[in-house]
Amino acid sequence: MTKRLPERGAAWADIKGRLEASKAGDYAWNRGRLPLYVYWRDEELCQVAREAASMFFVENGLGKRAFPSVQQLEQEVVAMTLGLLNGGAHSVGNFTSGGTESIFLAVKTARDFARAERRIAGRPKVVAPQSAHPAFDKAAHYLDMEVVRTPLRKDFRADLGAMKEAVDENTVMLVASAPAYPHGVFDPVEEIAGIARAKDIWLHVDACVGGLLAPFVRDIGYDVPPFDFSVEGVTSISADLHKYGFTAKGASIVLFADATYQKHLRFHFSDWPRGNYITDTFLGTRAAGPVASAWAVMHYLGAEGYREIARTIMETKARFAEGIAAIAGLEILKPNDLSFLLYRSVDDGVDIDGVAEGMADRGWFVGRCNAP
Ligand SMILES: Cc1ncc(COP(=O)(O)O)c(C=O)c1O
Repeated sequence: MTKRLPERGAAWADIKGRLEASKAGDYAWNRGRLPLYVYWRDEELCQVAREAASMFFVENGLGKRAFPSVQQLEQEVVAMTLGLLNGGAHSVGNFTSGGTESIFLAVKTARDFARAERRIAGRPKVVAPQSAHPAFDKAAHYLDMEVVRTPLRKDFRADLGAMKEAVDENTVMLVASAPAYPHGVFDPVEEIAGIARAKDIWLHVDACVGGLLAPFVRDIGYDVPPFDFSVEGVTSISADLHKYGFTAKGASIVLFADATYQKHLRFHFSDWPRGNYITDTFLGTRAAGPVASAWAVMHYLGAEGYREIARTIMETKARFAEGIAAIAGLEILKPNDLSFLLYRSVDDGVDIDGVAEGMADRGWFVGRCNAP
């Protein structure tokens, strides 16, 4: 692409029109045609999220002393998330830019904790089920660690035996997802926590998708297995606000069961002409907009609003499931937890890729799964 910075600026009205026009080829997320990337209830809620973010458009989350407002909002958002996920009196957390950063920080903290407290000498290792998000491999890649992927059971949940077998003296973290993205099922967190306790290994629960949805789905009467700090042995949790928290993008929380882990998270550099540089996130300068957006949306919806959304999601899923089940040659993949719904062709009855392409022609964005 050859594109040069224009010599002369243009009028905002013209630029705005061109930005609008640039979206012409995008999928219609606000007409229910996009089952991923966008979490959207309606224009009313979106406006709260957007206006709150724009009120803090200029502020910088790096400047804790300059912007006590941002720090206060951030602490309150972390506290509310801890409350939802059964944090204890000594639990702590950080606001991050997304699931990937939350996972990166958890992996880094587990690695440094193991090196300092357990004197791990070899290349640190993460043991994760095949279905865990690639962010664990990305973190390990940056941190010079290894990820051992273990096979899934027939029901797509983590296989305990395989995980136990993969653990060795360099293992610094076990991973469980709540739920994992490929099939939308929870791993058996309580059982994996049993291994973590027995072998004294860090357990990270990736609730990036489920963290802000599962508590409310449980509240309205669905079966949701224990997955958070209520399970003894869970050391850290990632939970995305920019997914089922319905806030502006750039918003996730990483939580630690105990404040003592935080020293292994912190980056501190003092050999610098400007003095101390200390951060608890990967980023330096950080957008404050997503912090304000999260605070505002959480107050706007309250638990009641989130329960209402959970009800809509679960009822919509049931209607989809009923419709798909009525089509010969298709079957719903089971089990499926929370909002997730996958379907496939049975007995080669339907050309499933043809279905995806046909729906794409009609404006639907169809996510596909390779295995199965
Ligand atoms: C289970 C799970 N973990 C982590 C992530 C990564 O989150 P992000 O894309 O916000 O970095 C995702 C994203 O879909 C996910 O589904």
